[in-house]
Amino acid sequence: MSRKHSTILGIESSCDDTSAAILVGDKIVSNCIANQKIHQKYGGVVPELASRAHIENIIPVVDEAIKKAKIALKDIDAIACTRGPGLMGSLTVGVSFAKSLALSLNIPIIEVNHMKAHILAHFIFDENRTKPNFPFLCLTVSGGHTQIVTVRSPFEMEIIGSTIDDAAGEAFDKAAKMIGIDYPGGPKLDEFAELGDPMRFVFSKPKIPDLNFSFSGLKTSILYNIRDWVKEDEHFIKNNFNDLCASIRNTIVDILMTKLELACQQTGIKEVAIAGGVSANSELRKRLIQKREENWIIHIPKFEYCTDNAAMIAMAGKYSFDQNICSDQKISANPRLDW
Ligand code: KG4
Ligand code: ZN
Repeated sequence: MSRKHSTILGIESSCDDTSAAILVGDKIVSNCIANQKIHQKYGGVVPELASRAHIENIIPVVDEAIKKAKIALKDIDAIACTRGPGLMGSLTVGVSFAKSLALSLNIPIIEVNHMKAHILAHFIFDENRTKPNFPFLCLTVSGGHTQIVTVRSPFEMEIIGSTIDDAAGEAFDKAAKMIGIDYPGGPKLDEFAELGDPMRFVFSKPKIPDLNFSFSGLKTSILYNIRDWVKEDEHFIKNNFNDLCASIRNTIVDILMTKLELACQQTGIKEVAIAGGVSANSELRKRLIQKREENWIIHIPKFEYCTDNAAMIAMAGKYSFDQNICSDQKISANPRLDW
């Protein structure tokens, strides 16, 4: 089989989703995900429980991805897995499984950086979308990261701005928790926000120089404001729920868009993509689409490639495989994997 049509098994297990995908050429033929509901009752991901759930899920998920793709194990040319960043136990399950399977099939193993993979998801074939041209800017926003990246090639990515404290996804989840939405609250808060007035409540925005972000001050501002309002009216949250969601979402998206606009000004690059879990946010997507009026060329991922998935891992792995950049059996998970 020629390299052009290589078959790659991608494995993702950096946090609380176990995922496996099969990529043939640049087309995803299966992308299976087992979400872990167990964390909801704890209000956040419990690392030990995540590791245990990955151990239970990994074989069925990989099996399902292979069956859905209608291929056999012998058809796989290489296995790409997330090496980091992420949770040590979670990553170790995926990396160890990938290494064992690669060894037994005598095929290469390819390590992938989770955050770079979020960006490279834009290069998965999709007949309804055009792929970004280099160089482009990517706002990479997830539960653990918030970055603006200049992407010059699949291998040349420069972080030009990042958060100095919390990530945007964390800000969504923590704010959601304050008003009683279960973890992970970001997607639910987004839904309720559609029904509310985004201008109703004002929260303080950070004054951080350059292209960096901060969300911890906003978190405190939301917490203190809500505490004061609830003191005056114990039903405040219930009575103003949708407006609170809309105002919180509007503030977070304002912060993200302001820095993205600045990055465009500073770099002169007007081709802009978003990636990571928060790129599923409807307001962020809407605001980006509006930028077409200012001649931005925008790239918004399909919903299934926003949050954690193995399709993006397989795609990132393919770039390495095509260049003969493979890892060996000595690799281990790295929760703080360098850019
Ligand atoms: O990329 P991701 O799946 O996992 C990490 O690598 O962190 O991102 C998960 C984050 C969570 O914080 C989740 O609340 C947030 O993405 N998220 C959203 C939405 N969908 C997912 N935040 C706001 N609006 C959404 N629609
Ligand atoms: Zn992610």
